[in-house]
Amino acid sequence: MRKRIVAGNWKMNLDHREGARLAGEILGGLKNRVPQCEIVVMPSFTSLHAVGEALRGSCVSLGAQDLWHEESGAFTGEVSAGMISAAGCRYVLVGHSERRHILGEGRDLLSEKLRAALKGGLSPIYCVGELIEEREAGRAEETVSRQVEEVLGGLDAGGMSKVAIAYEPVWAIGTGRTATTGDASGMHGVIRDLLSKLFGRGTAGETPILYGGSVKPDNARALLSAGDIDGALVGGASLAGDSFLGIVFPT
Ligand code: PGA
Repeated sequence: MRKRIVAGNWKMNLDHREGARLAGEILGGLKNRVPQCEIVVMPSFTSLHAVGEALRGSCVSLGAQDLWHEESGAFTGEVSAGMISAAGCRYVLVGHSERRHILGEGRDLLSEKLRAALKGGLSPIYCVGELIEEREAGRAEETVSRQVEEVLGGLDAGGMSKVAIAYEPVWAIGTGRTATTGDASGMHGVIRDLLSKLFGRGTAGETPILYGGSVKPDNARALLSAGDIDGALVGGASLAGDSFLGIVFPT
């Protein structure tokens, strides 16, 4: 059975004390409950260590929001896969829409980052998603397919087995607008068919495809039970223990 993941992307929120407190709240809410998914929290770099300590020995995994693709050297301000892994992370986001659209990251850099993450022993969560203009022009599937193929194409099956994909329509991120369950599930099907062409049915069937974009406790159940949706990448609603747990255990 393929893995299910609910990941909280804290973005540029919560210092290390606030992060450790939230981690404690999440662990408190998990007592005597068995989640049906892997739970991941993704604090800022400066909070990784403190949050990692708070989570030590628990079932909650740690992830980073970005990485630089070189192993070390004169790259002021950047953080390598090795450093992220040494801080206790299993996961790292690559290609989040805020990195693509605010920081201008594109195909070549994202390919390097994804490969560096794999080389460093991390599991990348590779984010894709169309802009509203692309959706309105009927080009959503084409855009997302291109983003998948141009960065993941060429990986071998071993590499691909460590990758998860997050489909996050850019117009749904932080806006309160969510894709309909049908639209999200349809796009996940498109991605899975493409993975099947690129890597074969076995690998395609094992790759977790998460949905992201204004996932909240009140829409999580419908989204997470839809075909081909294997979990969620959550921004705003991951910043409070009760709302994040309301997505981990949707009602
Ligand atoms: P949101 O963010 O849940 O606040 O829409 C999702 C994301 O950016 O991953």
